[in-house]
Amino acid sequence: MGNVNSAKHHQPSDQNIIFTNNVGEAIDSIVGEIKPSKLFVLVDTNTDVLVLPRLAAISKAVESATKIVIKAGDEHKDLDTLAQVWSQLSENGATRESMLINVGGGVVTDLGGFAAATFKRGMAFINIPTTLLGAVDAAVGGKTGINFNNIKNQIGAFRQADAVVISATFFDTLSQHDLRSGYAEMIKHGLLESPEVFNRLIDSDVADIDTNAMLNLLQESVLVKKRIVDADPTEKGLRRALNLGHTIGHAYETLALERHSPIPHGYAVAYGMLTELVISHMQLGFPSDTLQRYAKYVAESYSSFNFSCEDYPNLLAYMAHDKKNASPERINFTLLEQVGKIKIDCIVGQQDIKTALDITRDLMGI
Ligand code: GLY
Repeated sequence: MGNVNSAKHHQPSDQNIIFTNNVGEAIDSIVGEIKPSKLFVLVDTNTDVLVLPRLAAISKAVESATKIVIKAGDEHKDLDTLAQVWSQLSENGATRESMLINVGGGVVTDLGGFAAATFKRGMAFINIPTTLLGAVDAAVGGKTGINFNNIKNQIGAFRQADAVVISATFFDTLSQHDLRSGYAEMIKHGLLESPEVFNRLIDSDVADIDTNAMLNLLQESVLVKKRIVDADPTEKGLRRALNLGHTIGHAYETLALERHSPIPHGYAVAYGMLTELVISHMQLGFPSDTLQRYAKYVAESYSSFNFSCEDYPNLLAYMAHDKKNASPERINFTLLEQVGKIKIDCIVGQQDIKTALDITRDLMGI
């Protein structure tokens, strides 16, 4: 088990991440060190049923905590839900010395982290991600917040959890889609890190990995993100590397939503990385054999996302709306010269993006 250090409270970097499949023991050990005056556990309507009883059976801290339940789903990551959490903390006597244990996916850890960061100007919180996507991305790195005015994550704060306990214990509650969705963010970390990490991931099928092997892969993957976030906690530069696949991925996600047939976030990222690797090939000479291997992996594991050239204007408009872009003519990307060789802040023109969308459709066979 990693170091548990309560003195890390409020520091923006140097995250305390514990990798273990003995989650109960890890939580009780952290709580024993921080010694909060009162404990709260935040779950959503899914983890309340699927995870909390299992966790309460193995952790005295969780068993004794006051429970707060929010509705599951990104549509509830909003001000109303946040206000409900604040109210329950207030009505149940939370103070700055209390601690919130967030048990769930990205909605719970983002909203719970923000509730804890703001309640009485900040109380302790720990994240227990229960989804693969949450474990490799949302629960780590200190981005907390809610959606506001139809804009995702518009209100929030950078605030590291006092500890994050990463485990594969609860992944048996996830669907194949959920697993594959999270795995795409792991592949992103592999692309950012090295050919070894990338190859290990795309040579495996997430559906066949057992809990212990998954914990090793999780550790390798999360430490890629940790190193990037520790170097640039507030996203002034290097952290933008974590946007690989997301500029176009978010556009695919939005298009799917507009068509009323949403796709999981990680699937959109998997398709987005394909198009961004095409651009990397066009602009930076990213090797075509690696691009072809990745394209084959996407076709086998994520099927394809159907779009035509009639969708290009909308896709470009969604990319242009991304907060990182100064002008619609000049869209900002993280690209790769090769696996592990990152180039942030690459400005790409609309014509090149359209060409990359054409090539993506060819590679997907649509
Ligand atoms: N999800 C990207 C980041 O944490 O910066």
